[in-house]
Amino acid sequence: MDYPTLLARLGEGSAHPGGFQATKELITQISFPRGTKVLEAGCGTGRTACYLASLGCNVTAIDRNKEMIQKAAYRAKTGNFPVRIVQADAASIPFPDETFDAVFTESVTAFTQGSSAIGEYWRVLKPKGVLYDRELAFARKLSTVQKKKLQSFYGLHHMRTVPEWLKLLSLSRFHKYSTSPFTKMKQLVTDNDPLRVIEHELFTKPDAVAMMMKNERLMSSFSNLMGSIVITAWKA
Ligand SMILES: C[S@@+](CC[C@H](N)C(=O)[O-])C[C@H]1O[C@@H](n2cnc3c(N)ncnc32)[C@H](O)[C@@H]1O
Repeated sequence: MDYPTLLARLGEGSAHPGGFQATKELITQISFPRGTKVLEAGCGTGRTACYLASLGCNVTAIDRNKEMIQKAAYRAKTGNFPVRIVQADAASIPFPDETFDAVFTESVTAFTQGSSAIGEYWRVLKPKGVLYDRELAFARKLSTVQKKKLQSFYGLHHMRTVPEWLKLLSLSRFHKYSTSPFTKMKQLVTDNDPLRVIEHELFTKPDAVAMMMKNERLMSSFSNLMGSIVITAWKA
C-alpha cells in the first residue's frame, strides 16, 4: 500500500498543511464568483471540491489514485454535490486548453515529476485564469538522505525550499506569481468531517498500523524543517 492509498482508506479529507480550516480561509479570501469553473487537481477524498461546489463553483476534480476517486465520488453523491470527478494525472490533464477560470490544488504538485503539472495547470487555464497552490516547503535544502526518507515513504518528488518553488515558477509560462510567507507546519488539527468514510479494519492490519506510526515519526523528526506556502500564479 502506498501513502495516498493509506490516506484514502483512512478517508482523510484534508491531507495538507493547515487542514480544512486553512482551505476554508483561503477560499474565503479568494471569494470565487458563483459559476467559476474550477479544476481541483489532486482532490483526494473530495472534501474541498464538494465545498467549492457548495459555494456555487462549477467544479471538476481529478486525482490519480483510484481509491481517492471512489471516496470523492461517494462524498459527492452522498452530499448531493455537483462535482465532475475524473481519475487523471495532474501531469497530463485530460481537458482542452483554456477550460478553467481557476486551478486549485493542495499538497499535490510536490508529488508530481519535474515541472509537468505546473505546465498543465497553465495550459488548462483560460487567459487571466489563476492558479492557487498550497504546497509543502522546507526551511532549508534537505540532504540526499533526508530526501530519500521522505521520497520513499510519501512518494514526494520534490522537497523544495521557497526559493526553489519561485525558481520553478520563473521557468513556467505564468505571467505573474507570488507566494505567501513560509508558515511552519503546525500540529494537524482534525475536525469533524461528516462525510468521512474510515475503513476501520485498517487498525487491525500490522502493515497499515506500521505506516501510521512511521508517518508520525517522520512528521515529528522533520517538524523543524517542514512548512508550507500558498502560491498564486496568473496566466496572461
Ligand atoms: C497529500 S494528498 C492531498 C489530497 C488533497 N488535495 C487534500 O488536501 O486532502 C496528495 C494527493 O495527490 C494525489 N496525487 C499525487 N500525484 C498526483 C498526480 N500526478 N496527479 C493527480 N493526483 C496526484 C494523491 O493521489 C493524493 O490524493
